[in-house]
Amino acid sequence: MRECKLLSFAIVLVLFLVNGVNGEDPYRFFTWKITYGDIYPLGVKQQGILINGQFPGPQIDAVTNDNLVISVFNYLREPFLISWDGIQQRRNSWQDGVYGTNCPILPGKNFTYNIQVKDQIGSFFYFPSFLFHKAAGGFGGIRIWSRPKIPVPFPNPAGDFTVLAGDWYKTNHYILRRSYLEFGRNLPSPDGLLINGRGWNGYTFTVDQGRTYRFRISNVGLTTSINFRIQGHKLKLVEVEGSHTLQNIYDSLDIHLGQSYSVLVTADQPVQDYYVVVSSRFTPRVLTTTAVLHYSNSRKGVSGPLPWGPSTQVAWSLSQARSIRWNLTASGPRPNPQGSYHYGLIKPARTIMLANSAPYINGKQRFAVNSVSYVQPDTPLKVADYFKIPGVFSVGSIPTNPTGGSGYLQTSVMHANFREYVEIVFQNWEDTVQSWHIDGYSFFVMGMDGGQWTPASRVRYNLRDTVARSTTQVYPRSWTAIYVALDNVGMWNVRSENWARQYLGQQFYLRVYSPANSWRDEYPIPRNALLCGRGRGRRTRPL
Ligand SMILES: *[C@@H]1O[C@H](CO)[C@@H](O)[C@H](O)[C@H]1NC(C)=O
Ligand SMILES: *[C@@H]1O[C@H](CO)[C@@H](O)[C@H](O)[C@H]1NC(C)=O
Repeated sequence: MRECKLLSFAIVLVLFLVNGVNGEDPYRFFTWKITYGDIYPLGVKQQGILINGQFPGPQIDAVTNDNLVISVFNYLREPFLISWDGIQQRRNSWQDGVYGTNCPILPGKNFTYNIQVKDQIGSFFYFPSFLFHKAAGGFGGIRIWSRPKIPVPFPNPAGDFTVLAGDWYKTNHYILRRSYLEFGRNLPSPDGLLINGRGWNGYTFTVDQGRTYRFRISNVGLTTSINFRIQGHKLKLVEVEGSHTLQNIYDSLDIHLGQSYSVLVTADQPVQDYYVVVSSRFTPRVLTTTAVLHYSNSRKGVSGPLPWGPSTQVAWSLSQARSIRWNLTASGPRPNPQGSYHYGLIKPARTIMLANSAPYINGKQRFAVNSVSYVQPDTPLKVADYFKIPGVFSVGSIPTNPTGGSGYLQTSVMHANFREYVEIVFQNWEDTVQSWHIDGYSFFVMGMDGGQWTPASRVRYNLRDTVARSTTQVYPRSWTAIYVALDNVGMWNVRSENWARQYLGQQFYLRVYSPANSWRDEYPIPRNALLCGRGRGRRTRPL
């Protein structure tokens, strides 16, 4: 079966090469039915969100520049949206699938996403972005393979495994939403952890002794950082959210909410089964789960103690984060070496500082950025912007630096100019690890450290070989600084990947604006765009 899939994939690759001659990037078509279904990930029955009957949802395989045409049929009783974490949607925030850019797909309706994975490679995931559906599943892996002629800086692995790991609640997503978040309460601690939708030893990765495999691990959980390790085996890091890394060897890897990593694992141990372990990080109570690494001719099941997790000191995790580097000579999505983009030699035009907080507003727990706790408008921002509908949002409704004032509710949109090169400092004065994501972009993680960021902190920036990625952690009482080239016009969600925080306001939209109003910079509204709120009944421009 697996070989068969690989073979058909190889045939498709060949077809692409042939098709490539006429210059048109290939298309891949998907039809997805979104339904509720019973799942038992932690041994008790609960209502999950399935895609074509599957939990987690089907894997998306694509090659750089492919066009993905994904028709989504919503059979839930609630409106639904899917977003594509780390897929850059160049010139096309219309396909981003978050409520700031798209009207939700109503029950019984469908919508077709047209996505091009332009100039991207690597490991990502998709997830349902609306109404806390992520707590019920509906997520899946995305692999973007290099084009056949672009060198990949490691030998072709014998197999390629997706590992979707994260925390999980036995409570229905609707209850989590209605009885906790909308009530103004934070979520309780998660009930456990899952690996590919299964609990303890519920999932098996089968390997042949002596061969090397790629594991693409994404933290698809809601509230906790995780650590990933395999009993008796080393992890060779090769890729982080589309960047090829220096191939450091680790015993275990910290993966924060929304992050994705690829490691190579060689099955170089005696023939038997081994534990694949995921445990929670920086939580009062450590949650752990396991899957099985099964050597194909093994007759000995998993045994022995689980390998210990690393030190619970932040310093350990911070030092590992700093050790993750770009391989400057390796190719990324294009043949030229990654290091030919000298991000460290460009001077940012300005510094934006974003400080998270957890204010009580009107007696309810909220989360905020620079004191602003985001509230959803009645009309997606992108739709309101396009039809020039007044009163939905105003640009500049969130300060670009912390104010120290008390928290307030606002539909917050920050302005930025197309092609601006900016420095963003995430300053975290809370006691919990933060995870920040920016849609539409990958950015350079310049540095991170404890305490307050000051201009003097720049002295220790990595100006040479940090990775470009789309999600970064910020340690407790610490800062993380990034550089980002705002070369993608659109309305882009900047958010906490902690899903309770995101839901209760720790997010905003960055409106990257070009006055040219040209198709060269941004695609027009798609003909099939759904219209809702104050956009209802308007006409999308005929093509
Ligand atoms: C999908 O929705 C469109 C309207 O947006 C409708 O015209 C079409 O018939 C629907 N497709 C199916 C198969 O239901
Ligand atoms: C960097 O990539 C090159 C391929 O361009 C590869 O040969 C080399 O081993 C990689 N270096 C490290 C340290 O991972």
